[in-house]
Amino acid sequence: MAFPRIALVTCREVVKDPDWDRDLPLVLKALEEAGADPVALCWDDPRADWGAFDLVVIRSAWDYFESVDEFVAWADACADVTLLANPPDVVRRNVDKRYLGDLSRAGVPVVETRYLAPGDRVELPEEGEFVLKPTVGAGARFTARYRPQERDIAVRQLARMHAEGMTAMVQPYLRSVDVKGERALHFAGGRFLHATRKSAVLAPGTPYDHDKTPHPGLRVCEPTAAELAVAESALAAGAAGSDLLYGRVDLVDGDDGTPLVMELELVEPHLFLHLRPASLPVFVAAMVDAAAGRRV
Ligand SMILES: Nc1ncnc2c1ncn2[C@@H]1O[C@H](COP(=O)(O)OP(=O)(O)O)[C@@H](O)[C@H]1O
Ligand SMILES: [Mg+2]
Repeated sequence: MAFPRIALVTCREVVKDPDWDRDLPLVLKALEEAGADPVALCWDDPRADWGAFDLVVIRSAWDYFESVDEFVAWADACADVTLLANPPDVVRRNVDKRYLGDLSRAGVPVVETRYLAPGDRVELPEEGEFVLKPTVGAGARFTARYRPQERDIAVRQLARMHAEGMTAMVQPYLRSVDVKGERALHFAGGRFLHATRKSAVLAPGTPYDHDKTPHPGLRVCEPTAAELAVAESALAAGAAGSDLLYGRVDLVDGDDGTPLVMELELVEPHLFLHLRPASLPVFVAAMVDAAAGRRV
């Protein structure tokens, strides 16, 4: 197909500070070199004519959690007029980390999680460090770790979250992250691209409403066979039969050393392509193929 028109979906913060999404300029340039006609647009740009594109690819729509209902409605509306990747049913399920429960029911090993919605009775762990974070969020926003004796502070965080309508997740703090870090396995077009590793994000005592460094010590790493197997099972369960153009699976080891899914990112994952340039043509080919498929 000549010049497939591809929209890469971003947000206003990235337009203001382009360094925030290092994938975007690389993907724009590589798509052009591959003969496509790409453009970056904000998902909430009222002037965008989504139906004019062969393919719309959600990339750095990182402000969606502030208006998640509008974002999901936008994805539905966009998919009515063109091909949206990932598809809107995947977007709807993946914007809320309660999907971890679905993954667990599908047999995928995930971080043990309890949910505390507004109005629920507050029960916090009495032993061991734990993490409180929102079901809808990114960048470790409203996320902190606590020791049982810090219960009063944790209760204040919960009260603030509930007042703002958030549902909280309670997880054991996985200590292996301090030693082995968190691994992210990146995929596109049904293929494994590369893996990255980052260090722990939550320092003890850092208040939940302070900004965190989201990817400390980021670097490429080699995944183990066990990590690949867990990541592939998470992608299959998260897709639930839909096609995925891209995805990222974040893993942290449990206390017994086996990898657990901490996050499945099927909406707007960083792919960190600058760290592994060889992955860029694979992602670009997957986009061009998807755009062409729509015209068959
Ligand atoms: N249960 C946990 N144990 C250890 N660290 C955690 C845990 N949950 C979150 N973290 C830390 O907080 C960071 C952000 O949490 P995450 O669940 O990935 O949400 P998001 O990236 O969407 O903000 C993680 O990268 C990790 O460093
Ligand atoms: Mg994360």
